[in-house]
Amino acid sequence: MEARFNVDARVHDFRALVEEDVAQVEEFLKYCCKASGVGLVEEVWDHLLAAPGKRLRPILLLLAARAHGHVGSHTVMAGAVVEMIHTATLIHDDVVDKATVRRGQPTVNRRWHDGIALMMGDFLYSKGFQLFTAAGLQSEMAVLADTTNRMSVAEMMQFEYHTKLDMSEEEYLLLIREKTASLIEASCSLGALLAGADSVEPVSTYGNNVGLAFQITDDLLDYLGDEYVVGKPVGSDLRDGKVTLPLITALGNAPPSERRRIETEIRSGAIFEERWPQMVRFVHTHGGIEAALARARRFGSQAKRALLRLPSTPEREALADAVDFILHRCN
Ligand code: IPE
Ligand code: IPE
Ligand code: MG
Ligand code: MG
Repeated sequence: MEARFNVDARVHDFRALVEEDVAQVEEFLKYCCKASGVGLVEEVWDHLLAAPGKRLRPILLLLAARAHGHVGSHTVMAGAVVEMIHTATLIHDDVVDKATVRRGQPTVNRRWHDGIALMMGDFLYSKGFQLFTAAGLQSEMAVLADTTNRMSVAEMMQFEYHTKLDMSEEEYLLLIREKTASLIEASCSLGALLAGADSVEPVSTYGNNVGLAFQITDDLLDYLGDEYVVGKPVGSDLRDGKVTLPLITALGNAPPSERRRIETEIRSGAIFEERWPQMVRFVHTHGGIEAALARARRFGSQAKRALLRLPSTPEREALADAVDFILHRCN
């Protein structure tokens, strides 16, 4: 199988322009959870900070702000807040998925237990809301509240879709729009709002499309990725009951008898563990990988098209480069 997720050397580093801002976000994150007065909060937070992840959402927020000509004091704080919200959703998601590894280290539910993970997630959500409210960011707070609500509805939707092998592409796209694209879109919109943009529409359309491409790529990595590079186990979505685009397409393309055979094997659990490569082959053979890659690329192109409504700046170029990074990422 062709290795599809080695990041291409031609993908420009979209982070360079906001490197110093991101360092400030990092400082903010380091200290913002210190004031709780409870050692366990700090201990869990230090564990989380030890493996920081890609910081994609703050980077996009900062680039979106700069693409509208401004980075002020609230922008760094808002960058930290979207990362805190993202972290909260991951901690909760890992409880739901019973995940043991995230960003190459034990998840909070594994290192401690589910209760601590749930409460740490709640702590981070409410901390983010406190920070926005204290800064008087009313319309920005509305964006944040709306987004977190959409994300939790989506996680419930995901329970309803558990092992739904006849899930449609439309259902899948709605789910990933709500669970993943919403926060990426919000990060871009918040950057523009904080910069005093007349309209957030171009970057919010950009963010929505980037978010869809991002989750499709994540779902492809679950079929194609390498656990040590991805930093979390692969081949686990379906076992967790998550039916994603590569499988939806392959099931739709496969001859009925072949489809029935694989559905039986999925339902009985026979396809997991040592027979997983057969599952990957099924998805490949029936065009699931190609179709998902093409879909992600299409969303990527739509994201880039939305950027053309912004003035031409180095930040606009960096936002376009971020699309290429997302399409070629391997973790
Ligand atoms: C993981 O997000 C969860 C998804 C929405 C797919 P990221 O891939 O941005 O996670 P980190 O922050 O880099 O670990
Ligand atoms: C994305 O869902 C997580 C959120 C949007 C909260 P996944 O369950 O696919 O993410 P990973 O694969 O665990 O990172
Ligand atoms: Mg998960
Ligand atoms: Mg995933």
